[in-house]
Amino acid sequence: MSNTQTLEQQLMTWRQELHRHPELSTQEFQTTNKLKKWLAEYGIEAQTWGLKTGLIADIGTGHPIVAIRADIDALPIQEDIQQAFRSTQDGVMHACGHDLHSSSILGAAILLKAQESELKGTVRVIFQPAEETYSGAYEVINSGALKQVSAIFGFHNVPELALGTFATRSGAFYANVDRFQIVIKGKGGHAGRPHETKDPIVVAAQLISAVQTIASRSINNLDTCVVSITQVHAGTSWNILPEEAHLEGTVRTHSPEVRLAVEQKLKQIAQGIALAHSVEISVAWDNGPAALINTSKWAELSQKVAKEQGYDVQDAPLYLIGEDFGAYLEQIPGAFVSIGSASPFGLHHPQYQPNESLIFPAAQYFAVLATQALESIHKNAEV
Ligand code: NI
Repeated sequence: MSNTQTLEQQLMTWRQELHRHPELSTQEFQTTNKLKKWLAEYGIEAQTWGLKTGLIADIGTGHPIVAIRADIDALPIQEDIQQAFRSTQDGVMHACGHDLHSSSILGAAILLKAQESELKGTVRVIFQPAEETYSGAYEVINSGALKQVSAIFGFHNVPELALGTFATRSGAFYANVDRFQIVIKGKGGHAGRPHETKDPIVVAAQLISAVQTIASRSINNLDTCVVSITQVHAGTSWNILPEEAHLEGTVRTHSPEVRLAVEQKLKQIAQGIALAHSVEISVAWDNGPAALINTSKWAELSQKVAKEQGYDVQDAPLYLIGEDFGAYLEQIPGAFVSIGSASPFGLHHPQYQPNESLIFPAAQYFAVLATQALESIHKNAEV
């Protein structure tokens, strides 16, 4: 058996171990201990950088520094697949494939360690906690671990893409994922005497209709913009008009300007409707993860290396979902990529079943990408 086969099997075994024992965001204590132990078996010493969960390891020495990142957390989903390495935690499942991401980046770390003396700088390997709750990337940023890093790379598996398929794009990729909550405070009363009330339900209906004009009439239709009201709550009985109505929803955009314009327009519409109906309307806006915007230069290198490594390279579409890797790319340059995992069911589904054969090629890919990124920065610094 060759060393390559050994490592490939080792990575799949580790992935299955992670899959058996998934942990929710910010609770990845066992996962962190396991990753630390597995890295140590290959002579790689990991540091916490003050993180409660997750860890960071450097391979090579000196500058420049490039980072590769995996997310390590699981989801509150009951696994609905019978397989030997099924989740042993009731109601918790690696349903987004972060177990595959961790194993792949672990593999890249091991491959890089084997050629450590040839590296033109340092590769910082980041095992990030809490991606699903969009807090982990900020924890890593706050730890200071990114301060001297010149470029960062990461990936997500994509169930809809075939095994051996790779996709990325320059510029905007994943969306700004924002949330809003609206409270309409009217005046309740008898349903038979509505003139004595300030009915928040009728106001809610107008508001729901009015916000549809944000995407269709306020924002340039060439920009991406989704405004969805996802929750409407009001009332307790058939013959009572309630005091309040509560609405909640999400906005998805790709540019910071459009993001801000939607927030302002939403608040403006709410104020106008409140004034027209003599009710109070409050809008609480909660900025979620920032849009993920790839640096062209690094997206191009990512594609070039993928071709060299034998991937079927495609152009990725724009996504309207979020990925907290976007927070890193607000700070430093880099690129995020998609790798096919050929699952019959999608991410966050109880029967999501990615093909783990993607792990070893992804490990090789990130080892080569990090090496070439260091060489590229080194070469540019010389001229
Ligand atoms: Ni994910």
